[in-house]
Amino acid sequence: MTNTNPKKLFIKTWGCQMNVYDSRKMADVLAPMGYQEVTEPDGADIIILNTCHIREKATEKVFSELGRLKKHKDVAEEQGKKMLMAVAGCVAQAEGDFIAERAPYVDMVFGPQSYGTLPEMVAKATGAYGKERVINTDFDEEDKFDKLPEETIATGPTAFLAVQEGCDKFCTFCVVPYTRGGEYSRRVQAVLDEAQQLRDKGVKEISLLGQNVNAYHGLNENGQTESLADLLIKVADIDGIERVRYTTSHPRDMRDDLIEAHAHPAVMPYLHLPVQSGSDKILKTMNRKHTRDLYFDIIEKFRRVRPDIAISGDFIVGFPGETDQDFEDTMDLIKRINYSSAFSFKYSQRPGTPAATMGGLIREDIKNERLQRLQALLNDQMKAFNEQTVGMELPILFDGITSKGQLHGRTPYNQAIHVNGNPRLNNTIENVRVTSTNGKSLMGDLVLLEDVA
Ligand code: SAH
Ligand code: SF4
Ligand code: F3S
Repeated sequence: MTNTNPKKLFIKTWGCQMNVYDSRKMADVLAPMGYQEVTEPDGADIIILNTCHIREKATEKVFSELGRLKKHKDVAEEQGKKMLMAVAGCVAQAEGDFIAERAPYVDMVFGPQSYGTLPEMVAKATGAYGKERVINTDFDEEDKFDKLPEETIATGPTAFLAVQEGCDKFCTFCVVPYTRGGEYSRRVQAVLDEAQQLRDKGVKEISLLGQNVNAYHGLNENGQTESLADLLIKVADIDGIERVRYTTSHPRDMRDDLIEAHAHPAVMPYLHLPVQSGSDKILKTMNRKHTRDLYFDIIEKFRRVRPDIAISGDFIVGFPGETDQDFEDTMDLIKRINYSSAFSFKYSQRPGTPAATMGGLIREDIKNERLQRLQALLNDQMKAFNEQTVGMELPILFDGITSKGQLHGRTPYNQAIHVNGNPRLNNTIENVRVTSTNGKSLMGDLVLLEDVA
């Protein structure tokens, strides 16, 4: 297909890495129709908002963005041009009808399971079969991924690859089981084919994605089930793939084979394992289905295989019924684990989730104070972790150039690092000596240059 006059596609993405992956796939699926992704909404033919529903104000945020973007649509219409406005992702899935009703200028509302049918939806909405408004929040029984192209317009040396979607855990605070549906694992071969495509496009590091990625149990060509560890090693063994990662894991699904997979040199020494709380009582009311001791045991096993492994986590403070002692239990867990990085949030009430109707809501000022204390501790741990890598020589995968002209890259522990060097080194892995840290990211020198000097 010749793209002499490509149509412009603008996608704005919120939320988790799954949404980042989905946005790329939407661009992939629309590329054969002549749509090319642009970085500004000005003059776009299609605007897609890929939304996240995880915390409060999600829907308000979408409406305020829609209000802003409608101006572009009005300008286009004054010039006699059509601009499609679409809301996709988890807010569309959860509140599709409400959006359609409150924002009549939105042409398409569709959930994460429907992206494979985007060409048909766009054809309908642009009037190829008579202009129609498209509302699609069905949970498709078929494989969403089978309908998405393997061919990708990925750029850069790192990429996400979805291997599992959905969640059956039903933590009492969380909307994901409702917006993404039940757990589903892709076939092994489909994942390997996509990994090879990415490799062919120059990708060197692949992060396998899933809402509960270590629950992965995809079928291989012989009809047998394979685990995430099996899959991870197969992807790592693809020629040209130098690094593999995976996210997000759940403690309940952690298997010894995944822990042992970290002995493979291409499996990066980094683990993101959310725990949410360090109090057994709160873990129970959250329906996390595990204790704090199980979490300690898992981390200990990882450290036996990779003593240097960087541990990251997610925390919620102020869950209904969280006492001072429960919060102190979380602080104690953090001290015992020693994290290299973390994400932490104030509990946010989500309509339709079991926790939303629990008693014992925590006052906002208490939540704020707890979050501040927790983040101060986590920041200290991140700083200490970063300081501990100063002086080390580490292989860095360069994935970009900063506005100051420095190379930007990642260490095996997933730390960001800035290095002075030839821009040609972008997209390669080079040895770097870490020289300093500002607490958040690292600075380093190419070992090559040092040797010459
Ligand atoms: N599947 C992943 C996480 C999905 S959501 C897991 O099981 O860990 C990402 C993070 O958002 C969660 O780990 C949690 O820390 C946070 N989160 C989810 N729902 C929330 C809510 N209602 N309020 C505050 N934080 C929430
Ligand atoms: Fe949400 Fe819990 Fe499922 Fe994670 S495991 S997606 S927090 S319900
Ligand atoms: Fe948000 Fe949906 Fe991801 S709610 S965190 S975009 S699965």
